[in-house]
Amino acid sequence: MRKKIVAGNWKMHKNAEQTEDLLNELIAKLPTETNAHVMVAPTFVNLASAVDHLEFTNIEVAAQNLHAAEGGAFTGEISADMLKSVGVTNVILGHSERRAMFHETDAVIAAKVDTALRHEMTVLFCFGEELKDRQTGNHFNIVENQLRDGLFHIEAKNWDKIVLAYEPVWAIGTGETASPDQAQEMHQFIRETVRKSFGNDIADNVSILYGGSVKPDNAVEIFSKPDVDGGLIGGAALKADDFVAIVNSI
Ligand code: 13P
Repeated sequence: MRKKIVAGNWKMHKNAEQTEDLLNELIAKLPTETNAHVMVAPTFVNLASAVDHLEFTNIEVAAQNLHAAEGGAFTGEISADMLKSVGVTNVILGHSERRAMFHETDAVIAAKVDTALRHEMTVLFCFGEELKDRQTGNHFNIVENQLRDGLFHIEAKNWDKIVLAYEPVWAIGTGETASPDQAQEMHQFIRETVRKSFGNDIADNVSILYGGSVKPDNAVEIFSKPDVDGGLIGGAALKADDFVAIVNSI
């Protein structure tokens, strides 16, 4: 079933106390029944407490990354088993900040996807073109290649563990959003690309989120597009009122 999802990617923000404060505010302000599945992705060190805090709510917790290896001499890294051991079953992979600043290639991301799926985690698979790609009309090619090289090796049966998150790099943290029509055009292309390789069932059921400067004042219009199934929210997820307003826009 295609789900509506709004996920907050907190990136490297919020210490332990601030995490607790924001979670408390979200619990107080989010309606108990929402049209969207709601997720938050605090930093690694605050995941365990977030899981505890959210135990009796319908807010899910996601990690922002994992390492592809099961364990070993990888100083500073976190394994899927460690995440699962504190109750985290969702993970964001392939974020453009990981690709650009931490040199994650499609091959690295593909290996992480495999590890996450082996551990039966849900993957929020991020991808999206840079400004230069859009300016040169190469954006569809880039997006198709990121999907093919990072994700399309998975087995059909694993697609129920995949959420796609289209995040054009030029719209992330810039205040510049893709127009609702640009988002719809790309989301439709993404769904058709999935359809060509995996068929109607998978294409019609996969949720495709939009990310990039989603705010309370543009969420309704973006979410109203037929192939946009929700959002991956950065900056606006750090303020409870804004995030709740975005969730309520679905
Ligand atoms: P902003 O909402 O701050 O543009 O960030 C989007 C994002 O990168 C979510 O993963």
